[in-house]
Amino acid sequence: KEINVAVTGGAGQIAYSLLPRLISGETFGTDTKVNLRLIEIPQVVDKLEGTIMELVDCGFKQTGSLLATANIKEGVEGAHWVLLVGSIPRGIVVDGKKIEERSDLLRINGGIFTGQGKAIGELAQEGAKILVVGNPTNTNALIGRTKSNNLSQSWFAMTALDANRAKAQLAEKAGVGIASVTNMTVWGNHSPTMYPDPYNAKIDGVSAVEAISDLDWIENQYIPLVQQRGKAVIDARGASSAASAANAVIDTVKSVDSPTEDGNWFSAAVPSDGSYGIPEGLIFGFPLRSSGQGSVEIVQGIELNDFAKSKIKLTTEELLSEKEAVKDLLD
Ligand code: NAD
Ligand code: LMR
Repeated sequence: KEINVAVTGGAGQIAYSLLPRLISGETFGTDTKVNLRLIEIPQVVDKLEGTIMELVDCGFKQTGSLLATANIKEGVEGAHWVLLVGSIPRGIVVDGKKIEERSDLLRINGGIFTGQGKAIGELAQEGAKILVVGNPTNTNALIGRTKSNNLSQSWFAMTALDANRAKAQLAEKAGVGIASVTNMTVWGNHSPTMYPDPYNAKIDGVSAVEAISDLDWIENQYIPLVQQRGKAVIDARGASSAASAANAVIDTVKSVDSPTEDGNWFSAAVPSDGSYGIPEGLIFGFPLRSSGQGSVEIVQGIELNDFAKSKIKLTTEELLSEKEAVKDLLD
């Protein structure tokens, strides 16, 4: 088998952790040759030659052709998977002002996704899968998907890192291994309004809220900790999460491409079909199940209590206001 994978931001920090794992057999299987197309801005594209030298030097037998380009059209042509990582992270200073929130990146990064969306819609494979990582990821995906104008393709925005963080904190609190924590949903936006759902998450098959039995910790410590984890990493590391973000990209690709295990689900943001009252088309974090054959469905019938409903309302309102702020990019 052979697969074409396009990655924007190929010379960035997430890509540095991500790229070897895309061609090692870990992500697409040991029987699949991976042709990688690395896409960068013109000022940086030459650096990709060094990245390609390193990828060759890894010596993975699944390595297919390796291409570096500053031309998005060349990069996404024939792609089966497109990983849109390229964009500016928060923490940097723009026009004398430090970018504090992911939504402050809306005007800076949003524009990138118009041309990229159009190129993907026209040139990537019919049925291609696209994962947006660059922030603010949900609204960037909304822009890209709108501009792609190709309903055969599936767009995702990444919330798997939030889900992994959410599971890790529950496992630590409960004193269990991370594999005991399942059914994690991150509802809504990849932002401080996200709702990592502890009521429907399970620890060894029991609701995490019941298993932990400390509602004050859940509502007042755990949820804010997960919501603010990206900022905590930036403050501690002086740079935004990269290894864990790359890991979450791989988790998302594998979750979409493989059948979801019975009784479980995974987290990513997808265009709403109106489920749970979320306005249609908004790119919203939902619980998902994959058939492993190309179709991914939103899990239905999950019970949401008043606490959950109030959190989901907040994150929906934020996504609607982000949509409003970029409405000129959605025409
Ligand atoms: P980085 O600055 O190290 O790398 C970004 C790269 O993108 C740079 O090399 C830059 O030249 C390139 N780039 C910029 N515009 C581009 C364009 N139009 N086409 C192609 N490449 C372009 O940043 P990073 O740490 O790798 O993070 C990348 C993005 O991912 C940021 O927006 C960050 O906030 C986001 N992020 C999201 C999550 C998530 O969970 N969704 C997690 C971590 C980081
Ligand atoms: C993260 O969650 O780590 C990323 O979105 C980076 C950020 O700005 O928080």
